[in-house]
Amino acid sequence: MTKIRAAITSINGWVPDYILTNDELSKMVDTSDEWIITRTGIKERHILKGNGKGTSVLGTEAVKGLLKKTGISPKEIDLLICATVTPDMQFPATANIISDKAGLKNAFSYDLNAACSSYIYSLVTASKFIEAGNYKKIIVVGADKMSSIVDYSDRTTCVIFGDAGTATLLEPTTEDFGIKDAILRTDGSGMIHLHQKAGGSVRPASHETVDAKEHFIYQEGQAVFKFAVSNMADIAVEIMKKNGLKSEDIAWLVPHQANLRIVEATARRMGIRKDRVMINIQRYGNTTSATIPLCLWEWENQLKKGDNLILSAFGGGFTWGSIYLKWAYDPK
Ligand code: UT7
Repeated sequence: MTKIRAAITSINGWVPDYILTNDELSKMVDTSDEWIITRTGIKERHILKGNGKGTSVLGTEAVKGLLKKTGISPKEIDLLICATVTPDMQFPATANIISDKAGLKNAFSYDLNAACSSYIYSLVTASKFIEAGNYKKIIVVGADKMSSIVDYSDRTTCVIFGDAGTATLLEPTTEDFGIKDAILRTDGSGMIHLHQKAGGSVRPASHETVDAKEHFIYQEGQAVFKFAVSNMADIAVEIMKKNGLKSEDIAWLVPHQANLRIVEATARRMGIRKDRVMINIQRYGNTTSATIPLCLWEWENQLKKGDNLILSAFGGGFTWGSIYLKWAYDPK
């Protein structure tokens, strides 16, 4: 029987207009442009402003743009998975809200949360529906309004994160393209280093949790950095070895953009030259579920059919993973 693979056939990104610069942050907390650039590589990030605007706004704009770009009717979409750590609300799923706003009348939809690895986990999940043979068009949204859970008086986290939305279209192919392999990992003991303390069933929202700022990101930066550097590089090297790939076989490394130093360490371990690594952290910061697809979207015109790509991410949970895919189309 012919093997069906899931291939990315189009991609779109959307970022809000407002740009929060390092200089503006320097007026809000005790930090500097120089510190932020040296330690993280970030120069600016986009922020979604306006009351009542959540992650679904980012995702819906990205999906509408994708449908316009491809000329596909919203009714043709079978499934939408929204990778996010900042859903509009606890329930219903943000994916449902996006599907409704974008007119996806025939799609079922749900959210998937694996922190900064949400996009990689979602892409793998979506690919299985396609490989099973009964789903033809799936959209993976990677969207996060990180500014909704960032404490803008905490200099250790507020300089890192930004907001963005993306939409990735997956379709079946029987050719030798698309998602070829993936490795996903989880280690729940890492939870102590990176989490949001309140708002879940353990510590429901109360005056006390709000006063204690427990609805914001809690991150032990150095500990997370250590795990991220080793695990992201290890898993990228593991997927290369598993598929008999040498560094010269890889056209692009597409890493999660958490910190430029983590990205560079991963590329070094894989033996990949810096000009073969997609890096846009300087303009967007860490947009969690949107970092990897934002890169693919920005580099889309440079990608050629048959290019070998390694996607790699590490995030809260801890969660991490790598995907090996063969790009399925030439620039249009
Ligand atoms: O995507 C999800 C996974 N997350 C990550 O991968 C993030 C991993 N961690 C990191 O990227 C880095 O640890 C950070 C960017 C969060 C912090 O960078 P660092 O080089 O690890 O700094 P540090 O935490 O070791 O802090 C060094 C110093 C401290 O001062 P003292 O104690 O040496 O006096 C901090 O208080 O830098 C200080 N510091 C700052 N100074 C100016 C921390 N944040 C800032 C800041 N501006 N924004």
